[in-house]
Amino acid sequence: MNLAVQILANGGLVAIPTETVYGLGAAINNEVAVAKIFTVKGRPHNHPLIVHLAHLEQLHLVAHNIHPDAVRLAHACWPGPLTLLLQRNENVSMSVTGGRDTVAVRIPDNAFTRQLIVNLGSPIAAPSANRFGKVSPTTAQHVCDDLQNDVDLIVDDGASSIGVESTIVDFSVSPPQLLRPGGIPIEDIEQILGYTIRDTDGISRASGMLQNHYQPSCNVLLVHTDKEAQQLKVSLVSQYQLVRILNRCDNLPLYATLLYSDLRQADADQIQALIAVLPENKGLGAAIRDRLTKAAGSGTTLPAS
Ligand code: TXA
Ligand code: MG
Repeated sequence: MNLAVQILANGGLVAIPTETVYGLGAAINNEVAVAKIFTVKGRPHNHPLIVHLAHLEQLHLVAHNIHPDAVRLAHACWPGPLTLLLQRNENVSMSVTGGRDTVAVRIPDNAFTRQLIVNLGSPIAAPSANRFGKVSPTTAQHVCDDLQNDVDLIVDDGASSIGVESTIVDFSVSPPQLLRPGGIPIEDIEQILGYTIRDTDGISRASGMLQNHYQPSCNVLLVHTDKEAQQLKVSLVSQYQLVRILNRCDNLPLYATLLYSDLRQADADQIQALIAVLPENKGLGAAIRDRLTKAAGSGTTLPAS
């Protein structure tokens, strides 16, 4: 713990565990460290970072004019896989927010990381600890595989329990919009709020909303049923030697928890085509579908049967 605090306080980068995915953390008030995040990730500077807090009292340090419904949601869901997009407080630098007047904030459900933020005395800005566009890390080993030489410390707190990134709800617009489906189903959020949340209708504002993201090296092909997966596998034998089917639709929490490990394992096993069965577009299934669709890039989904 002390080492992690020291490194962050001195402008270094620490890979931090969270319940969603591992993050690449820097103290938000250290411009040099924040700049390093973008360099290490190979991330464009206009793609903003999520600010991680230890407790709700820190919210006013980073955001202002906060919508009462956002506060209500924060009370109900934090610590947890929910990120709120709010109006930026001036003491959060534009380098963290990609030049925007909004700031993305969450309290992660990881005791070590929250204590680290407390001991550091500053919120931590952290994107997922992977190279831009690649598969997110859900274990310390994943971070080590990707960023070993570019991060000062990797904190190993076991595998992330949720396995997909946080749900992002934009409260800087009215009515609020869903920017990214994630670890907490939008239906749960709507139930707390008592009204429905629209998908974002603006231009792609979150990097996770780019069409190609979360991508392994193998081809990811999408189908809707196990039967389609089997048929496709048979039809691919002449084209590919190593084809694998990914289908955990009978257990969505497990599908999410293992998703990025499964994608990474396919590459490690030199699988050429990974046939992934899409879950229904509801609950946690929405986030899994979103990640799989992006892992596949565009145009590889078979028509719904
Ligand atoms: O679960 C998570 O959210 C993980 C863990 C580490 O907390 N973090 C994560 O960070 O997924 P990242 O950088 O991979 O994705 C954050 C997303 C990006 O798509 C980014 O563009 C969006 O949040 N975002 C952050 N600040 C924003 C802002 N001010 N306006 C619009 N989008 C924003
Ligand atoms: Mg990411």
